[in-house]
Amino acid sequence: MKKGFLLLIYCFSFLYADARVDGLKQRVCNSLSSLEGWCTSEKALNFIDLILEVKPDIYVEIGVFGGRSLLPVASALKFLNHGVVYAIDPWDRFEATRYYDPIHDRTNLEWWDKLNFNYIYSSYLAMLRKYDLERYCITLKMTSEKAVSEIDRIDILHIDGNHSEEGSIIDVVLYLPKVRSGGYIWMNDASWADRQEAVDVLAKECDVIKILDNGNLVLFRKR
Ligand SMILES: C[S@@+](CC[C@H](N)C(=O)[O-])C[C@H]1O[C@@H](n2cnc3c(N)ncnc32)[C@H](O)[C@@H]1O
Repeated sequence: MKKGFLLLIYCFSFLYADARVDGLKQRVCNSLSSLEGWCTSEKALNFIDLILEVKPDIYVEIGVFGGRSLLPVASALKFLNHGVVYAIDPWDRFEATRYYDPIHDRTNLEWWDKLNFNYIYSSYLAMLRKYDLERYCITLKMTSEKAVSEIDRIDILHIDGNHSEEGSIIDVVLYLPKVRSGGYIWMNDASWADRQEAVDVLAKECDVIKILDNGNLVLFRKR
């Protein structure tokens, strides 16, 4: 009788934990469309699952924009009450277009040129306040090149900053050595032609774990 009762409590505790995780995922997915950025529900759910599995001390996101891909990350850290995410972005028009070629990247340049970065940055800060995530997030309003000296050992890295060939390679070369062996790297827009050299550098030191978003988001694990 006592054994049966304990088994029942054991089963209920699992069901309760599952329901809490489902609630977290539901809340995050419902909020994504209100934020500036590009993160889909599929990406958000995968970011959350990896964090719940790895329980990182240090997560680094390069390229934050309005915080749409940071919301699932910081929300999962809050759920665990563990770890911190470094949110790196200069939120600056000049830096966002620094390595772009005036002819080859004209469409891109025009798009970034029209953007109101002050508004995007404010919307990101408002998101942190609204969801009470400030304790889990260290915002570094600077380029990834400058921010690298502030960071030591990374458990999970998300590369989504400057998408030019040069910018992508810089992020991999500067940040991959900081990722611990067995740590993870999300490379966003991995199928873009300008990102191929950076992807090749990653592939030399890492295994591919998962490919999402029609080949655009790749999860690597450092050997
Ligand atoms: C594609 S957006 C990021 C989107 C965001 N991760 C999301 O999913 O919604 C690229 C961001 O990279 C930032 N960026 C550009 N150059 C950078 C640099 N050198 N270091 C860090 N971030 C940079 C831009 O300001 C921009 O906000």
